[in-house]
Amino acid sequence: MKYNFSEKIGLGTWRLGESDHTKQNEIKSIEHALSIGYRLIDTAEMYANGNSELLVGKALKNIGNSKRDQFTVVSKVLPSNASASGVVKACEASLRRLGCDYLDIYLLHWKGPYSFDQTLEGFQVLKHRGLIKNHGVSNFDIVELNKWSDAEKSLGLQGSNTLATNQVYYSLSARGIEFDLIPDLTQKEVSLMAYSPLGAGDLVRNKKLCELARTLGLTGAQLALAWVIRQPNTVAIPKSVSKTRIEENWSSKDIVLSKDTLAALDLLFTPPKAKTSLAIL
Ligand SMILES: NC(=O)c1ccc[n+]([C@@H]2O[C@H](COP(=O)([O-])OP(=O)(O)OC[C@H]3O[C@@H](n4cnc5c(N)ncnc54)[C@H](OP(=O)(O)O)[C@@H]3O)[C@@H](O)[C@H]2O)c1
Repeated sequence: MKYNFSEKIGLGTWRLGESDHTKQNEIKSIEHALSIGYRLIDTAEMYANGNSELLVGKALKNIGNSKRDQFTVVSKVLPSNASASGVVKACEASLRRLGCDYLDIYLLHWKGPYSFDQTLEGFQVLKHRGLIKNHGVSNFDIVELNKWSDAEKSLGLQGSNTLATNQVYYSLSARGIEFDLIPDLTQKEVSLMAYSPLGAGDLVRNKKLCELARTLGLTGAQLALAWVIRQPNTVAIPKSVSKTRIEENWSSKDIVLSKDTLAALDLLFTPPKAKTSLAIL
């Protein structure tokens, strides 16, 4: 792999910062996650119009900026900002909101109007200035990944200076990528960042999943997360603003599922038998 996640579970922050009433609790939730061991935080300039990044920044500051190097901070540029100069401006603004000197991984949120060459040029400027360490993409299927690889080749980029990760929807209820995208990522040595690993919350309300989890002494959320991270080179990034659920999700990192459990899950959530279009939230 060109980039190895040092963790199996990270923290999602979509929808944080949307309301003034909940902001203080959300900052405390992020701080709690970081204090119990979470290392990777996923945010985006799009989330709450930058307010999610502001909250992550406040939590990082409260935890102590001297600890910044322990964390993997991931943010995303909107496709509408992904021109060569737009990427640089967007990243500078994200860093200001986050109160950070650099991002560990900067992603193109989804494919937009600008050529990949332009976006990559922006990413290269950011790398040369030390503002990002790695670049990645999100919501890319194989066709886009191939075009991205071509753009990297045409710019002469190689090895660790190429795509680190693809962040896509992957959960028991969205298994389509197992058919061809996961094998393609493996072949390209690109790590998988699995978003909405709880099906945006739907899976924890799935009675059959929760019943199976109970027989194993787990919660539905833990079973759903342990299943996602059974994939090698994968980090799952569940979002929660509840300290208890943040702890529950974190504890799934050490759960190893038996063949029987995996088979039972295949019966409940059928693996893909053909190519499906990429699921996007
Ligand atoms: N790149 C992209 O286009 C993209 C798209 C979607 C998401 N993402 C990223 O992926 C992250 C996760 O995805 P997501 O937020 O859509 O969905 P998710 O993590 O699958 O599910 C989050 C929902 O589940 C609830 N929840 C979390 N842990 C729980 C538990 N142990 N028991 C019961 N309920 C639980 C949360 O509520 P509480 O907060 O109340 O616990 C929230 O409603 C996002 O936050 C974002 O960072 C990226």
